[in-house]
Amino acid sequence: MDKIKFFPDSLDVQNKKVILRLDLNVPLKDKIIIDDTRITLCLPLIKRLIEKKAKIIIISHLGRPKGERDPALSLIPIYKYLKNILQTNVYFFSGDFDNEVQDKFSQLKKSEVIVVENIRFFKEEMKDDENFSKRLGSIGDIYINDAFSCSHRKQASIHKITKFVSKSYAGPLLKKEVDSINLIIKDKKDPVTCIIGGSKISTKINLIINLVKKINNLVIVGAMANNFFVYKNFSVGKSLIENNTKEIIKKIYHEASKYKCEILIPEDCIVATNFEGKGKNKDLTQILENELILDIGFKTIKKIKQTIDKSKTVLWNGPAGYFENENFLNGTISIAEFISNNTKKKSLISVLGGGDTLAAINKSKNKLSFSHLSTAGGAFLEYLEGKDLPGLSVLK
Ligand code: 3PG
Repeated sequence: MDKIKFFPDSLDVQNKKVILRLDLNVPLKDKIIIDDTRITLCLPLIKRLIEKKAKIIIISHLGRPKGERDPALSLIPIYKYLKNILQTNVYFFSGDFDNEVQDKFSQLKKSEVIVVENIRFFKEEMKDDENFSKRLGSIGDIYINDAFSCSHRKQASIHKITKFVSKSYAGPLLKKEVDSINLIIKDKKDPVTCIIGGSKISTKINLIINLVKKINNLVIVGAMANNFFVYKNFSVGKSLIENNTKEIIKKIYHEASKYKCEILIPEDCIVATNFEGKGKNKDLTQILENELILDIGFKTIKKIKQTIDKSKTVLWNGPAGYFENENFLNGTISIAEFISNNTKKKSLISVLGGGDTLAAINKSKNKLSFSHLSTAGGAFLEYLEGKDLPGLSVLK
């Protein structure tokens, strides 16, 4: 198998324009950064390139703006954060990638940084458009992908751009992620439990089908679980659900029974009438039309802890509840603290992934420890599943 080309620290980048594809997709509330983990993880490479006198062009997406400029998803808060922290000139580029784009970046001096506005404001990004990729590539001499968490996306700044830059590499953070996950795939011990939560339902539900073939227990939490409740004919009130998932869930149960994977879904939950509200613990049979399911309940937490306790490897992606409101954080924090304790005391192999998962567990008042914390959500799951990620294939 071809190996990924990693950025050699010895490479002379002085005066070279380095396009750095990062994942600065951090949670924001009213344009304020709620959790900066993803940014702080990227800082060592940015600082190293400044030290090596490169001209640094940072590209990232933020959220899913659907190819249109959406002020709520501007990268300006992240640019301001970097400007504050980096001891060099940091600029912001909000122009178009037209025929003159190369000139627009030609003024950049060595050790300076320019942050490009949310790359998903351009619909060509999502389409992996050839021309757009060519223009993107034309602004730099070297390309580094240090966004493992985006490498499952076949999008211009991750995939086709590499055709148009003479040298393309994977960055050190990407290397650390891949090395750690490889180690875990190699060392994983049965029983393996996979906890899947969060709300990006359509991107994960198909992956689950493949995962159940390789693991012993599947625990479904977060908004993901609502679809399972609907499948089992429970009323979920106003909760977030996705249409037409019955068939796919039927298939998940079918595959799970074929491969002897136990599926655990919540039996009680915390509900409220709005996202800002306070929660009430209810059994699944008691949910009213005007209520939203916002966290897992106490009985469910107990059951999940029992499952974790009999596991030797735990993989977790996606929070258990609407962690943005502290009233619905208990499920996620209780699971995180239990996994952390078992990692310390019982040598549990624990791998946690995803921007939201990191943001949620960072709210714990205790110091938690896991075998590996991944910035990646979907990419982490697809890599575990054994898929060839488009963003990595082009770096081989
Ligand atoms: C993530 O948050 O998992 C990455 O930033 C990728 O985001 P996406 O799922 O919107 O492509």
